[in-house]
Amino acid sequence: MKISFAEPDLPRSGAVVVGVWEEGTLTPAARRLDEATGGAIARAISAAPRFLGKKDELLPIVGPPNLSVSQIVLAGLGKPDSADARSIEQLGGNLVAHLNRAGETQVTFSLELGRDAPIGPAEAAAQLALGAQLRSYRFDKYKTKEKPERKPSLTDLTVMTTGAAAAQRAFQPLQKTADAVFFTRDLVSEPANVIYPETLAGQAERLAELGVKVEIFDENRIRELGMNALLAVGQGSVRPPRVVVMEWRGAKGGGNSETGKPLAFVGKGVTFDTGGISIKPAAGMADMKWDMAGSAVVIGLMQLLAARKAKVNAVGIVGLVENMPSGNAQRPGDIVRSMSGQTIEVLNTDAEGRLVLADALWYCRDRFEPRLMIDLATLTGAVIVALGHHRAGLFSNNDELADRLIEAGKAVGEQVWRLPLAETYDREIDSDAADVKNIGSGRAGGSILGAQFLQRFVNDVPWAHLDIAGTAWSAKDAATVPKGATAFGVRLLDRLVSQYYEKS
Ligand code: BES
Ligand code: MN
Ligand code: ZN
Repeated sequence: MKISFAEPDLPRSGAVVVGVWEEGTLTPAARRLDEATGGAIARAISAAPRFLGKKDELLPIVGPPNLSVSQIVLAGLGKPDSADARSIEQLGGNLVAHLNRAGETQVTFSLELGRDAPIGPAEAAAQLALGAQLRSYRFDKYKTKEKPERKPSLTDLTVMTTGAAAAQRAFQPLQKTADAVFFTRDLVSEPANVIYPETLAGQAERLAELGVKVEIFDENRIRELGMNALLAVGQGSVRPPRVVVMEWRGAKGGGNSETGKPLAFVGKGVTFDTGGISIKPAAGMADMKWDMAGSAVVIGLMQLLAARKAKVNAVGIVGLVENMPSGNAQRPGDIVRSMSGQTIEVLNTDAEGRLVLADALWYCRDRFEPRLMIDLATLTGAVIVALGHHRAGLFSNNDELADRLIEAGKAVGEQVWRLPLAETYDREIDSDAADVKNIGSGRAGGSILGAQFLQRFVNDVPWAHLDIAGTAWSAKDAATVPKGATAFGVRLLDRLVSQYYEKS
């Protein structure tokens, strides 16, 4: 979809969208259209008693005879002081869905929020365009027979606003956000016969073009480093594992001793999770192609930080393996020595993500002494039981970091909910035979026990774990997230970085 910005004018073709405040007050653009059409807008509103101008309400009107536009859409804006960045972005997304359903090819948004809105005209226009762009995502490269009338119709979006040049400038970094989100969604959507450790590492390698230093460890290197927990997960697969380390150095002058220390992001990259010998049931197993979502988010985030030249030092580390049953697979009861030296009793080979992260987290803190460390993982089905699909599970050993993640999540609509860590939970993963076991004795507190396991490999580094099992993939369309891969975490962590760590 091509996006452009233009100064306000009366649109001459395609569809046009104008805003209406709650209680039915017309925005200036709506008023101008009303005048140009002999009162068609006001008539439509009085004929539609359920259209109140509230947020998320849309009222389509067929193009009036004296104006060469196909349809006019009245968009509810809510109360004048409530139209913030996030709600405007959602409006952009909802409009794209509506226009694609209607078969429109070209549209002009002419919203004009006015002076009471919490955001200025340039930012509002850019935010509207971002929402529209994010909703237009589609993973359709393998559909060879789709009828044209089933494909999205919208090709051109013009956002009209005073100060179009400023809006265009405000949109530039947001376009990079959308690019990174799309890249991440593509990686997560690809099936496991296409994206596996070597090919996913190959995708990460592309970040070198943006100035990211990318190192790829092959199986030998991983063995030399002593990452035996990660290796144990991959040993049943014919596809060899990879570990990728991505470094972005954007802090001014390298940063001082504190700001020079990198922020670290670590991702679970199980490119397919059969469960291993503790094999999963057939129903729904195909979902496990997206068990690498954590790693895709880390790769997408690193792309975004580099593309927008973030003034921060950051490292991304992903552990990439395929979890398969085979004659060479690890067995329940096996004991492995992790890179940290701690031994792990593997009582269930389906609790594999934590084994991968144990070594990736340990390596990260050991080599980089990061300022903070955040891991993302589709770690437990239990987090879906606890929080459903509208919040990711957040665990942290640091209240300030947890609060910042919660705030950042609210700002971009990728929300997280904090769950506890405590000594009493930790006792439940003490092993009779080794230092730690990878599952508890029952199903109780499954997500917490997963987090407790990870905590044993971070020592005192400020750390947060995001369990994204319920939010990495969506079965339903949402305003700015079509169903499928969401890229949940890219915008959240980009916001965390820009809001709290790029200032000094
Ligand atoms: N990748 C799964 C978790 C998962 C489940 C992600 C559903 C997305 C949707 C993870 O590796 C797993 O299998 N976890 C087990 C842990 C259990 C054996 C302690 C689970 O949740 O059942
Ligand atoms: Mn598993
Ligand atoms: Zn898994």
